[in-house]
Amino acid sequence: MTVRQDVKSACSGKFSDDEREAVYRVIFERRDVRRNFVRKPIADEVLARILTAAHHAGSVGFMQPWDFVVIRQRATKRAVKQLFTQANTEAAKRYDGIRSTLYRSLKLEGIEEAPINLCVTCTRQRGGRHVLGRSTVRETDLYSTCCAIQNLWLAARAEGIGVGWVSIVDHGALKQVLGIPRPVKVLAYLCLGYVSSFAAQPDLETAGWRARIPIEELIHYESWGKKGQGNRRNGDAHHEGVHKNRRRGKNKAGRRAAGVEGQSSSGGLRHPR
Ligand SMILES: Cc1cc2nc3c(=O)[nH]c(=O)nc-3n(C[C@H](O)[C@H](O)[C@H](O)COP(=O)(O)O)c2cc1C
Repeated sequence: MTVRQDVKSACSGKFSDDEREAVYRVIFERRDVRRNFVRKPIADEVLARILTAAHHAGSVGFMQPWDFVVIRQRATKRAVKQLFTQANTEAAKRYDGIRSTLYRSLKLEGIEEAPINLCVTCTRQRGGRHVLGRSTVRETDLYSTCCAIQNLWLAARAEGIGVGWVSIVDHGALKQVLGIPRPVKVLAYLCLGYVSSFAAQPDLETAGWRARIPIEELIHYESWGKKGQGNRRNGDAHHEGVHKNRRRGKNKAGRRAAGVEGQSSSGGLRHPR
């Protein structure tokens, strides 16, 4: 199998049915994994593929604010596990009764079982003070790093490697353990390893902690709270018309609607109706 890590030539743009199917499959079969790690080590070239997939995420202003600290040493894992235990003991105090019992029964990390731990950071200063696109929403560098993590998560799944995200760790203390400079932000601590199986649904769902929300409840049409699609035909017909007219490049009304021509004959800006 060839895995293209860096496509320099123009892409054809088309995915075969099987390729498209594989993309959806990896999305739906990705899991947060904290157990069932097997002894098989992750080869360097496989890790390189996964990290390269992460590195090809979108980032604000092409800032690429991420770094990856690869951890294999037991002593380091042990130190991080201690940080988890401390933080988790505190977290458990926030729940009462049945919820507390359930929380304490959950397995929320696989730090020492996983052959590789990975700390993903965001260097917010990278690219200088004025990063294209970041001036309005400062956190876009953090979002970018999350995009890289999602790429990594999906690529790992395609390699048969489970990834577990451990957020129940004090990041200040973690930075000390890993020698991460003060201005660099920790985004994620991940546990990676081949697993004997991937669960069909989230562990938290299986444990009865929380269920997946039906997608229909989360989609709004045109404005917040509008659940019906209303009269779609006008909007879609307009959109279709714009594309047809763009392709022909002749119809002036269509070109105006598409924003191709900024000015009307009267000199004022026209908006599509
Ligand atoms: C930002 C983030 C932090 C998370 N932190 C933890 C964590 O500390 N411990 C844990 O067991 N799972 C953690 N998870 C995994 C979620 O619990 C998991 O994604 C969710 O339950 C859905 O399951 P799935 O990823 O298998 O679909 C985290 C996930 C994200 C995205």
